[in-house]
Amino acid sequence: MIRLLLAMSVAKLVLCILVLAASCSVVSAASSRVASSKATRRARPIEGPFIISTHFPDIFLGDEHVNNPAQQAALRIRLNKLLDTVEAHYSGALRRVHELHDPKVAMILQDLLLLAGEHPTIGSRHLTAADAAVDRQVDEAANITSAADINVDRRRSQEVTYTAPQRLRTKLSSLHSPRSLEDWSQQIGARLGQLPAGMSFPVLRRLLTAVVVRSWLDGTGKRFTDAEEEAVSGLFVQLYMLHRRGVFNRGIMDHQHVSKSGGTSWCHAAQLNGCTTMRFDKFYVCGVSSFEDKVRWVDGAAHTKLTGGEPSRWALHGVFRSETAPGCASRAAQMRAHRWTYYSNEYTLTGGQQSMSDVEVCSKQFVTSILFRNPLQRIVSHLRFLLLHYKRFMEAQMKGGTGADFFKTYANANATFWSNVAPAVTDNYFARTLLGEATWHAPVGDVSVEKHLSAARLVLMQFDIVVPLEAPPAMTSWLLTFGVGWPVSYTDVHDKNISALQEMFDFDPSPYMPAESELSKLYSRQTVDMELYELAVLIGQLDYLVFSTAAAAGVVPWEGMPVGLDFDEENASYKIACGLLRGPSGAWSGQLVHRKRRVNGGAQEGGVRRRNGGGSGGGDGGGRAAAAMARTRGD
Ligand SMILES: *[C@@H]1O[C@H](CO)[C@@H](O)[C@H](O)[C@H]1NC(C)=O
Ligand SMILES: *[C@@H]1O[C@H](CO)[C@@H](O)[C@H](O)[C@H]1NC(C)=O
Ligand SMILES: *[C@@H]1O[C@H](CO)[C@@H](O)[C@H](O)[C@H]1NC(C)=O
Ligand SMILES: *[C@@H]1O[C@H](CO)[C@@H](O)[C@H](O)[C@H]1NC(C)=O
Repeated sequence: MIRLLLAMSVAKLVLCILVLAASCSVVSAASSRVASSKATRRARPIEGPFIISTHFPDIFLGDEHVNNPAQQAALRIRLNKLLDTVEAHYSGALRRVHELHDPKVAMILQDLLLLAGEHPTIGSRHLTAADAAVDRQVDEAANITSAADINVDRRRSQEVTYTAPQRLRTKLSSLHSPRSLEDWSQQIGARLGQLPAGMSFPVLRRLLTAVVVRSWLDGTGKRFTDAEEEAVSGLFVQLYMLHRRGVFNRGIMDHQHVSKSGGTSWCHAAQLNGCTTMRFDKFYVCGVSSFEDKVRWVDGAAHTKLTGGEPSRWALHGVFRSETAPGCASRAAQMRAHRWTYYSNEYTLTGGQQSMSDVEVCSKQFVTSILFRNPLQRIVSHLRFLLLHYKRFMEAQMKGGTGADFFKTYANANATFWSNVAPAVTDNYFARTLLGEATWHAPVGDVSVEKHLSAARLVLMQFDIVVPLEAPPAMTSWLLTFGVGWPVSYTDVHDKNISALQEMFDFDPSPYMPAESELSKLYSRQTVDMELYELAVLIGQLDYLVFSTAAAAGVVPWEGMPVGLDFDEENASYKIACGLLRGPSGAWSGQLVHRKRRVNGGAQEGGVRRRNGGGSGGGDGGGRAAAAMARTRGD
């Protein structure tokens, strides 16, 4: 049986931040047995103060670099690059960045994050439980229940059109840090209090957090004063509350599954956390067939040209989605009609079939997430996977008289061969995934830093949850626990373990990988992806900082979330019921029927789980968090 590691208590997490060592997972595993006997225990605020600025070095620099000026300078450059990601919106490189078109967000940016000159203050108001009220648009959409509605929805053009934004007077990176972190935090806090419900504003959250970290660097890494600590902590808690409210209001997840980056484990985790989807099969694909998100790894024509055999599996490179394939709005409508809380897209984003500038992150309807793996490791894993399966497929074809000899073609092929048969796989796969179909199918070599990086960076910034795969599990599991209220992380399950597959098929593809020199050629081409990876790591760190601050202030993702949960216990998934993802504004909390986890699916568990707090689940937590916020702000 799988024994899952459990979300650790806040105190332990803080310990882990301080130690930032692999030993943390051991601590967590050991304590899970104790915790599981107290399944009802809840996350509690840690004893004693949580000093944010003392955590910066561990999170952003790593212990050994704390007093290293070169490392600090490098961090500053990364932060400045992040601040300038919004340029892609103002230059027109991306035309549908929903968050930045929100009038309130647009105004905060036009006011240059209140970092330049005078600060117009508009009535101070902090986010309260009442703000978690249902977003009307979301509510209406939640009412679509019949198949007829879906079809109408599918035909109707639901595209929002925006007018081009007025450019910023200056780049955000060129602005000075706040003269007074206290005043600035208060003023920004007042502005944040006016943001509408619905979205989670991840771009703004990361910009503001980056400003704080940069400000700390200005002080050459010294601790903030107590007053600064209090102000910044209040701001971070507020940012978390905005995030949580947006997650709760949308209540369904669109996971961008970049192949060979942990996506199947994420899907499996969704099941263990009690989410619903079209089908949880043993491969944990979690796709919805009508969305046309099938993988398109291999170019069938190139395969035939280079091998002489007929195309084998996954040979859809060059094949676009059909004209009627659903965009964000109709995807959401179909999800709602079926009461599915979760799905994965293993292809590319929608909207960008003509041009990347129209690509769309579905952030108006969905909570969006992506796992980001080191791109070089991703390629190796992908080639190995293709070799493992293509040997089998091609041998079967040979018997049927339509295939080519695997050992004379794919085995030990060079970089040119691979670029031809698997163009996207071997050339900036992440960037292609983020920029839509036109870019996805572009020839090898066409995806470049000059043309694509700035747009791809801003697409990445719009994901609500960005998890860098290689970050310590203590950090990544926290991004899921606080990001969506899932106590079970993808690190708790290990699917499609390549060694297990090799055993199953009695074939080790390693000797047939391209030579090191050929792999190096492929590596050197991933320039856009490597930049994106650097950004993904920074985003993960910034979000982790915000979520940890909220945790330390006593905020919980949802009231009643079990800290320790034994997954051998039959009803574990019922208790989680997909965490914060229970349909728009938690609308399905009282009605979700989860299937019993059972090998031969048959009977359906009659269990209808009602979340404690029912429909007002978000409200409860909101009240508690408002109190926490008042505490952290000292008012
Ligand atoms: C949803 O549908 C019900 C029943 O048709 C209706 O009473 C309710 O007003 C609808 N809600 C919204 C927000 O349209
Ligand atoms: C790569 O392999 C192909 C055969 O698949 C061969 O024709 C080509 O010359 C090789 N290219 C290089 C640069 O070695
Ligand atoms: C992968 O599977 C093999 C064989 O089942 C097992 O021995 C190994 O421990 C697994 N590795 C991981 C990382 O789970
Ligand atoms: C699991 O949930 C079902 C439905 O709520 C209930 O009937 C059953 O007793 C539960 N089993 C356990 C072991 O709690």
